[in-house]
Amino acid sequence: MLFGGRSGEHEVSRKSAASILANLGPAYRVTEVLIGRDGQWHVDGVPVRFADALDVLADQNVVFPALHGPYGEDGTVQAVLEWIGVPYVGNGVLASAAGMDKAVTKTLLAADGLRIAAGVTLRTGEHPTPADQERLGLPVFVKPARAGSSLGVSRVDAWWQLPEALSVARMFDSKVLIEPAVNGREVDVAVLEHPDGRVEAGPPLEITVTGAGFFDYDAKYGGGARFQIPADLPASTTEALQDRAIRAFHALGCRGLIRVDFFLPDGGEPVVNEVNTFPGFTSASQYPQIWERAGIGYAELLDILIAGAVK
Ligand code: DAL
Ligand code: MG
Repeated sequence: MLFGGRSGEHEVSRKSAASILANLGPAYRVTEVLIGRDGQWHVDGVPVRFADALDVLADQNVVFPALHGPYGEDGTVQAVLEWIGVPYVGNGVLASAAGMDKAVTKTLLAADGLRIAAGVTLRTGEHPTPADQERLGLPVFVKPARAGSSLGVSRVDAWWQLPEALSVARMFDSKVLIEPAVNGREVDVAVLEHPDGRVEAGPPLEITVTGAGFFDYDAKYGGGARFQIPADLPASTTEALQDRAIRAFHALGCRGLIRVDFFLPDGGEPVVNEVNTFPGFTSASQYPQIWERAGIGYAELLDILIAGAVK
């Protein structure tokens, strides 16, 4: 079990790993490899040199990277695991790197004909032009391109709030997205690849945020959101969401799993908001709950992902 990491989602990764360990069947013998916030590696609680951690990882039958965010979910750790030649659960280097960057994800999905959330991408020092502001309208969401769990994300209801929102987002990434807020519903779709290669989409999950805010870090992990599985949707919408989620899985060259997060604009077609190549596995997270509802319990889900990695 490889977890922790240097990203702002370090704590989330610890929670995901704790849930995975609690639900893993008795057949597995686990070595815990923790990456500290400072990048220090630990094996079963003991600080070790990077090279020694790699030797330990290389000795395993399979590595389960339960990492979220940069330096973990973005292909960097996957490249290390490729390099040492150990099988590992989930997405490879390309899908992880592409899926971590919301701007790159949108470019690739749009090129494959999928609808994506509109917006502008700003690089270091760039600001939206008056024409951008006109086109975006208000409110907008300002997000770091490469982060997760809504870290660094702000809602902007008036343009005077933009500079502050940009500087918050730029604490996480020099590349920032501004997207119009979508009036409508928020629905996530989990995709799972079975060891025989069959790729399945689970029942859509609808998120309802309790209180005034959006589905931010506190709502994600502090209990401020409700999930409805399956979402109350016409069968044709469910099918469209599942079909698009599977197309996104293939467009990014995924392996094992992905969670595709959609907006359902009032009276409009579903648009992809973003993807998660290693979605949250905490007890509060969507992905394991979706499969539980679909009849695949947490332990079986882990068996499927691990079997897919070692096949
Ligand atoms: N990035 C978090 C872990 C999620 O999408 O679930
Ligand atoms: Mg995410």
